[in-house]
Amino acid sequence: MELVIEGKGLAKRYGEGPGMRAALDGVDIEVKRGEFVAVLGPSGCGKSTLLGVLGGLDRSFGGKLWLFGEDIDPLSDAALAALRGRRIGFVFQAFHLLGHLSTRDNILAPALFSRDHQAVADRRALGDRVDHLLHEIGLGGRGDDMPATMSGGERQRVAIARAMLLEPELLLCDEPTGNLDAETGQQIVELFHRLHRDQNMTVVAVTHELRVAEVATRTLHMRGGALVDEDGPRSVRGVE
Ligand SMILES: Nc1ncnc2c1ncn2[C@@H]1O[C@H](COP(=O)(O)OP(=O)(O)O)[C@@H](O)[C@H]1O
Ligand SMILES: [Mg+2]
Repeated sequence: MELVIEGKGLAKRYGEGPGMRAALDGVDIEVKRGEFVAVLGPSGCGKSTLLGVLGGLDRSFGGKLWLFGEDIDPLSDAALAALRGRRIGFVFQAFHLLGHLSTRDNILAPALFSRDHQAVADRRALGDRVDHLLHEIGLGGRGDDMPATMSGGERQRVAIARAMLLEPELLLCDEPTGNLDAETGQQIVELFHRLHRDQNMTVVAVTHELRVAEVATRTLHMRGGALVDEDGPRSVRGVE
């Protein structure tokens, strides 16, 4: 089956000499189209670093990375940015909505600020897609609301809709429920579950929260910059 992500020996260090830290220490990872992979691990184990590398946000790493079958090494920064903009959606813990833009314009932001001419040309057609996405995330009719008037869970739903705007093939999420209370977090987990199931979206979510892993098709465990084996299949579900 087609690999959306293939990383070999991914490595990254911060600092030098005695203060040196290996944030990534030889990670091999493969993600197939249609998988929902949760990467679980404690704070500081390298999850955000891994996600930044896998999403082409951070190019200063050791090892090799293929995205959608393409070796990213020879790509210029502009070509990698274009690939990212077109094919990958990102969701972060802190939502990162633009406070001076309405919900609608926040969702449209990837097209508003895109250097991809097609995306810009399609901007008007995207109006219908925004309405569809607002409905999909349960915020139909809230397009004119400003982020400051929305709850954390609503903001994260807007951030997810924004990530979905240009119909990415891969959704990368960094602690997507980290700023939310348990109940709101569960709603966000269910939204990811639905996107994965209904749209066959490939999802990689890094998190320390077990509930994200409960809807994943595969769970990887990370410790000290490396993927590690977990003790048997029971802990994978995290409920026993
Ligand atoms: N910009 C940075 N400079 C120095 N050290 C960093 C930097 N970013 C992350 N680290 C270190 O790398 C390790 C992994 O960080 P991170 O990927 O953010 O972990 P996680 O997302 O799992 O909490 C940690 O020890 C962290 O302190
Ligand atoms: Mg992190």
